Amino acid sequence: MKASMAKGMLEEIRWGLSRPQKQLPSKFFYDTRGSELFEAITELPEYYLTRTETGLLKTPVSGWVADMAPASLVELGAGSARKTRILLAAMAPGIPEGVHKSTYERTYKRTYAPVDVAGDFLLATAELLRVEDPSLDIRPQVRDITWDLDFVDDLPGPVLIALLGSTIGNFVGKPARELLSNVRSAMGESDLFLLGADLRPGEGKTIERLEAAYNDTQGVTAQFNLNMLRVLNRDAGTDFDLSAFRHRAFYNEGEGRIEMHLVAETAQEVRIPGGDVARIGAGESIRTELSCKYDRPVLTGMLEAASLEIVRWCTDEDGLYAMALVSPT
Ligand code: SAH
Ligand code: AVI
Repeated sequence: MKASMAKGMLEEIRWGLSRPQKQLPSKFFYDTRGSELFEAITELPEYYLTRTETGLLKTPVSGWVADMAPASLVELGAGSARKTRILLAAMAPGIPEGVHKSTYERTYKRTYAPVDVAGDFLLATAELLRVEDPSLDIRPQVRDITWDLDFVDDLPGPVLIALLGSTIGNFVGKPARELLSNVRSAMGESDLFLLGADLRPGEGKTIERLEAAYNDTQGVTAQFNLNMLRVLNRDAGTDFDLSAFRHRAFYNEGEGRIEMHLVAETAQEVRIPGGDVARIGAGESIRTELSCKYDRPVLTGMLEAASLEIVRWCTDEDGLYAMALVSPT
């Protein structure tokens, strides 16, 4: 890790561990091991989000994408881009009869710009896609998705910007507003934004089902949660004792969000390079992730505030998950 990055990380750690509710940014989950653990989560029986979104991407979202015929796809928080293959396929209509493959590939040249903080994992994803489809122009961006998306200007249009997996839910308050307003600023009139969002409990969706998705019986989510401390010890030089913390996740109904915490079993003193020591009492927790859940009015309000509006909307038949196609107002 670059010295300047470690410095920024230390400032975020110092700030978060000095709040009344200790907290750490969820982006610190994602080194290569964290990205692999997230991939394992997506295959757990309890974690319905990925499977449900995959179904919606096949139908009806592929049809929406085919109608738009974007030349470029920008994916924020791309990870393994497993589901992205569905969107990339929808961007390229079948080869018309009598048209040569090379002519077709020139005509339907597609650009894919995946963006992610997990640099090594992102570059490996890009390499894999390059081998799978050499006609794809792949331009990976290792950066924070809440930063300015100025690179979008250089991509062939129309551009589809996608934020899948309900990753929007991990951004709350100012970061969420900044993220949406950066998306809006990057969009031209004919560009669109595709958003996946996990829904609040309601008809057909119980709180138990939601909480089970973050408390799997195999303990993979617990390993994912604890991995953050391993990342901080390695990259920021802290000395968290991983064996002293346990995973806790619950639905906060008032706020409409899952909260993930690491609870200290005994009192802990953690050294933060630069001279500080964080004291964590026995039973006290560090909040490591918020995962907001939505309904259509809540999403509409957040998008409106960023001068964006929903033009197409779908949910699965059990009302677990929604996808919205969004345009500038
Ligand atoms: N889109 C994939 C992966 C979701 S996991 C899916 O739907 O399955 C969330 C991804 O966002 C991870 O790859 C993580 O590294 C990335 N991420 C989290 N916070 C980020 C941030 N602030 N900036 C850039 N990427 C971020
Ligand atoms: C990436 N993000 C949308 C996941 C979520 O559901 O909030 C991360 C995750 N946390 C625990 N399990 C999965």
